[in-house]
Formats: sequence, C-alpha cells, structure tokens
Amino acid sequence: MIVRALVLASQGKLRDCGIENPTRDARLLLANCLGVEVHKLNLLDDSFLSKDEISKFWRMVDERCKRKPVSKIIGYRAFWGRNFEVNENVLDPRGDTETLVEVVLENKFKTMLELGTGSGAIAITVLAERIDATCVATDISELALETAARNSKIHGVQNRLTLMQSDWLSKISGRFDIIVSNPPYISAKEYNELGNEVIDYDPKISLTPGGDGLDSYRQIISNAKEKLIKNGQIVLEIGYSQAEPVKTLLAGAGFSKIKVHKDLGSRDRVLSAEAA
Ligand SMILES: C[S@@+](CC[C@H](N)C(=O)[O-])C[C@H]1O[C@@H](n2cnc3c(N)ncnc32)[C@H](O)[C@@H]1O
Repeated sequence: MIVRALVLASQGKLRDCGIENPTRDARLLLANCLGVEVHKLNLLDDSFLSKDEISKFWRMVDERCKRKPVSKIIGYRAFWGRNFEVNENVLDPRGDTETLVEVVLENKFKTMLELGTGSGAIAITVLAERIDATCVATDISELALETAARNSKIHGVQNRLTLMQSDWLSKISGRFDIIVSNPPYISAKEYNELGNEVIDYDPKISLTPGGDGLDSYRQIISNAKEKLIKNGQIVLEIGYSQAEPVKTLLAGAGFSKIKVHKDLGSRDRVLSAEAA
C-alpha cells in the first residue's frame, strides 16, 4: 500500500469513529510512524510502506479511535515551538498555557519558582528563553518530575532547573523573583462533564482539586508572599470564569497591581500580581 492510499483509508476510519479532525490526525500519526516531519509527508505520497509500518500505523489509528490524544500516542506535544515528552503521568500542555508563558516573559527576573510543573513545559520554555534565569520547579507527582527531568535534558536547561517533590509550597525555602503556576482548577462538577479524551488520559490530580476548583489557589496564594522578594510577581493560570474569586484571594493575601490577561480566544486566562 502507498502512503496516499493509507492516509485516505485511515481518514475514513477516523471519521467513522467520530474524530473531529481525521485528516490532520491521520497525517500526524503516519508521519510519526514513518519518522518524518509532517510537512514532508507529501513527498512520500507514492512510496510503499512495509507490512510492519502498516500494522504499527493501524494500531495507532485504533488507539486514536479509542479517544487517546494524538500527543499521547506519538509521545510528544509541541509547546512554544519545542517538543515535550508527554505520557500518562503528565497533563498534555495546552495551547492556552502559552498565554501564561507570554505574561511571565514580560517580567524581569532571575529566579523563578514553578508550582505543579507536570511535563516541565512552562519552566523549561522560560529557561530556554531566559538564558540567565534559574528555576525551582515542583510537583507532588514523582513520575511527573521524572518526565520533566527528561524534558529538561532534551532542551539543555537541566543545569538551571532544580526539580523537587513538594505539596505546593510546603518544602520550599528561600525567596524568588517570580512564582508561576498552572494548578489544577476544574471543579468536581465540571470534571464529571469532561470527555474521555481528557478523563482517561490526563492524570486526575493534574485537572481538579475537587470541590469548587479553587483549593489549589487558596493553598498557593495564602503562602506565596513569604516566598517572594519585595515587589516579586505571581503569575497564575485560571479557568475562564475564575478571575473574580482568584482576584479576591490575591487581594486578601496582600497582593497589589492585580491584572487579568486574556487568551487568544479573548477569555480570562492568567492573573498577575505583585507582592508589596
Ligand atoms: C494543570 S497541571 C499543570 C502542568 C504543567 N505545569 C502545564 O502547565 O502543562 C497541574 C500540576 O500540578 C500538580 N499538582 C497537583 N496537586 C499538587 C500539589 N498539591 N502540590 C504540587 N503539585 C501538585 C499536578 O501533578 C500537575 O502536574
């Protein structure tokens, strides 16, 4: 079978399974299966595939039909122009989180603390963009920290990144110029309404703290000021309807200059504030 025919056949199967973007997904999976970049797949249109390549590809298509995200089938996700290893132990970094990185990079800082690093996408991206910065990045999950460690080596920032297991700020000592977090913020009710693609493949601990979804903010914000230098910054990703309650938490903890930043879809996505 040649590449073009296989793309067409697999597109049809993905469409029948109800996959939203069957052409894009078929091409991404086949390019990964053949070890080529997706934009070069057309150059192989008339090439024949081996039996092994064809069986491997159909196994990938079957996984996609079971709603496994493409990134978790191919093992990586592009974030801010770099590829990050992702697996069952880490949240698949979302495009919206690039807004958080954008806001962080508007600040001047040398030392950063990231809480809940997951794959390490935020900390590693910031360190790759800011070559004079260092970062302590934490997570409660040891397996997530192992993934972040591998990603830090892939992107050559491991010497400026300290990874640490900690329940939010409990094990953190010292003060930082900036604290950054994209904590789990989905409420228990919203979690029960999520699709299989998310519930079955992103760790629950990365998605929801339960209850009203605000507990991670309560815990982070109540202890953050004592870990920041004077005029240090805090930058938090939020759910699009959480700006008001999280602003109230920040103001209550003595933060000032609280700003809401919107994502590309014009929804509230990030809050930044300053420690007086
Ligand atoms: C929404 S994910 C963010 C992952 C990554 N920073 C990103 O933006 O793609 C939240 C992360 O917080 C971690 N986490 C959950 N509860 C935590 C806690 N009590 N202390 C530290 N990290 C926690 C999860 O394991 C997960 O990696």
